[in-house]
Amino acid sequence: MSTISLWKRYTHYLCRVPPIGLTLDISRMMFGDGFLESMAGPMTKALAAMKQIEAGVEANVDEKRMVGHYWLRAPQLAPSAAIRTEIERTITDIKAFSDQVLAGRIASQLDDGFYVLLVIGVGGSALGPQFVSDALEQVGDPMMVRFIDNTDPDGIDRTLGELEETLSQTLTVVISKSGGTKETRNGMLETAEAYRRAGLDFAKHTVAVTQSGSALHRQADSEGWLRTFPMWDWVGGRTSVLSAVGLLPAALQGIDIDALLAGARVCDEATRSEDLLGNPAALLAAMWHYAGNGRGERNLVVLPYKDRLALFGKYLQQLLMESLGKQLDRAGRQVHQGLTVYGNKGSSDQHSFAQQLREGPNDFFVTFINVFRDRGERSMPVDADVTTGDYLHAFWHGTREALYENGRESITLTLDRLDARAIGALIALFERAVGLYAELIDINAYHQPGVEAGKKAADSLLDLQRRVLAYLRAHPDHRATAEQIADAMQEADAVEAVYHTLAHAAANPDHKITHVAGMTTTETKFGIAGRD
Ligand code: PA5
Repeated sequence: MSTISLWKRYTHYLCRVPPIGLTLDISRMMFGDGFLESMAGPMTKALAAMKQIEAGVEANVDEKRMVGHYWLRAPQLAPSAAIRTEIERTITDIKAFSDQVLAGRIASQLDDGFYVLLVIGVGGSALGPQFVSDALEQVGDPMMVRFIDNTDPDGIDRTLGELEETLSQTLTVVISKSGGTKETRNGMLETAEAYRRAGLDFAKHTVAVTQSGSALHRQADSEGWLRTFPMWDWVGGRTSVLSAVGLLPAALQGIDIDALLAGARVCDEATRSEDLLGNPAALLAAMWHYAGNGRGERNLVVLPYKDRLALFGKYLQQLLMESLGKQLDRAGRQVHQGLTVYGNKGSSDQHSFAQQLREGPNDFFVTFINVFRDRGERSMPVDADVTTGDYLHAFWHGTREALYENGRESITLTLDRLDARAIGALIALFERAVGLYAELIDINAYHQPGVEAGKKAADSLLDLQRRVLAYLRAHPDHRATAEQIADAMQEADAVEAVYHTLAHAAANPDHKITHVAGMTTTETKFGIAGRD
């Protein structure tokens, strides 16, 4: 295609949403003339289904739940006055609480101010808050924010080690919708122990965000934690960033949560539009459908040309892959749907995987994210008439062009500036694109049945570990291979799991497992050291 016709294609398809300073360019996706027309009917249906969702139908039929994240930024749309009141009250409470903390009126046990915020959560209870925090962090924020989002002991040590000197000034927020997620519980237990070792009362430094009646809620109540903020069954984890899950940490960091909510609300208004060319979420969903033939056959590579958006890829990965990666469609047919997402940030990625994008398998389409405004101040020239920001912009343009020349497709989303309002809009844009795409491919985007299988398998490994340890304690003189131990326990079928359990236990001092390494795995012998 000539440059002139590409320019025409660019201007024809460019979708501008001035109230949120956002433009979407799909001109470098190579769909043919009739494609968008062919999507008009299915998209009208998808938009109608989204209307139903916003009106409160039980869209998550498998879990019998409504899907209400759109009400979080427009409480007047909630299907009942009770829900509306809860949303509004929670926002008011978050603001009042964070104002009091930041003013020092809610103080730590030693009557110090809180200057550090430690957030403990995982999945939807961490990725959104982490993304928002990193994107909007400013020098001089009232609180430094850190996260524990795993049950990795060394990771926990690193974070708590960093906070050792400031623990008395650290406010911990434990976030779990279900209130029973093990990664979060373990991070909380180790953090509570760190406070105890420092002579501090964990309860006087800690807030919970969870559903009413959960184990976490009961613990916070019975131990007299500083405060509990609600989560609701009609908000899914990965779409909870604009509930207390994301708003509380953001407000404590000094982020303008009204602007976050307003950006999302205005984006929602734009993305309800039935004019396909004027609706950026519908265009995104249509492009995902086009690129992967409605079966996720190509990966979505997300490349934001902005350091502050570096975590957007991780956030989007969960939002899309946990929502869209489904074995069954809504009629129960095997479909193995999904849309693989990866990416970090430009231009850094040009020095890592962009080589393969241009010359390797053509199994992806890129979503570039650009921000026009480089920084708050003027920039110095680094070359004649060129700033660092001009370089960043030129690298985006160059990569887009180099990919297109080689038949690689891309979408470019441009934000005028990066502020709380733009971040709210970005979140809302992709939430709705996921909702629309799920309608197009007829899957339930709001449950995650696949995640349970791994959790159950982990539980059964921990049960087996307890049995292996009990067996070895009962046979303290036994030095034997994993096969011999599994046989003696009458668990021959579980020999590999017995081996993994013992090999891990022998590498750590906790369970007093010793081992004598053999020439081969099958010859390695395990035993238990004498009791204390
Ligand atoms: O999106 C989801 O539902 C999950 O990723 C959850 O957020 C994650 O499993 C954490 O769950 P919870 O908030 O209940 O601890």
